[in-house]
Amino acid sequence: MNTPSPGGIQIEGLRKVYGHGDTAVEALKHVNMQVAPGEVVGLVGPSGSGKSTLLKCLGAIIEPTAGRMTLGNEVIYDEGWKVRDLRALRRDRIGFVFQAPYLIPFLDVTDNVALLPMLAGQPNARARERALELLTALDVQHRARAEPNQLSGGEQQRVSIARALANRPPVILADEPTAPLDSQRALGVMRLLNQMARQYQTAIIVVTHDEKIIPTFKRIYHIRDGQTVEEAGEGRTLD
Ligand SMILES: Nc1ncnc2c1ncn2[C@@H]1O[C@H](COP(=O)(O)OP(=O)(O)OP(=O)(O)O)[C@@H](O)[C@H]1O
Ligand SMILES: [Mg+2]
Repeated sequence: MNTPSPGGIQIEGLRKVYGHGDTAVEALKHVNMQVAPGEVVGLVGPSGSGKSTLLKCLGAIIEPTAGRMTLGNEVIYDEGWKVRDLRALRRDRIGFVFQAPYLIPFLDVTDNVALLPMLAGQPNARARERALELLTALDVQHRARAEPNQLSGGEQQRVSIARALANRPPVILADEPTAPLDSQRALGVMRLLNQMARQYQTAIIVVTHDEKIIPTFKRIYHIRDGQTVEEAGEGRTLD
């Protein structure tokens, strides 16, 4: 955790088959993807095309069937996990924004965001201060003392984005982060992700169907039939 990662994501020939025999589903056939440190790329594709599967493999939540994945300079998967402590990998190096917010119901909003930095050894007061900064940037600071079930869907999603940014991980994986947000807030989230990427050399993948944010990407990967194709995006400036 103390060695700064140069960041960046490389995925080569990634394959994922769920189940066995007659009921097997080949969700990813042969996926190639590269994200440079400091870059935010979009990942789009029809429902069921394997977008969430790809993020879960990269985030060490599910095990791929074959292929190779590198984070920073470290090979994390090459026909088998190469990292001994997958929990530390998820905690220290990857920020997740899931399709559903998955906030911890018995912690208030601030502590949901401050929890991971506290687990990583940051003093509680500093972690809460940083949490408030992020909640302010995401325009949800007025709900800092509330419990997650007292928030609207869009507010919960903004808290989950703050949580993903809290540890300043070298990699952020976001699955439909702006779906429940209005246009102005969706663009606000993209502005924050782009700032993060630039400032901390974070590599960010954003899965999305959201027409509001697609023009913001400089590069977009399309996934279809378990394979990715790269395309240039508009890269509309956000500041
Ligand atoms: N745990 C699982 N077991 C078996 N099949 C699964 C599992 N999870 C996903 N699948 C299948 O793998 C394929 C890819 O699913 P995935 O969730 O990655 O799609 P997606 O692109 O994220 O779709 P959406 O846009 O609807 O979120 C689908 O056919 C899905 O039914
Ligand atoms: Mg999905």
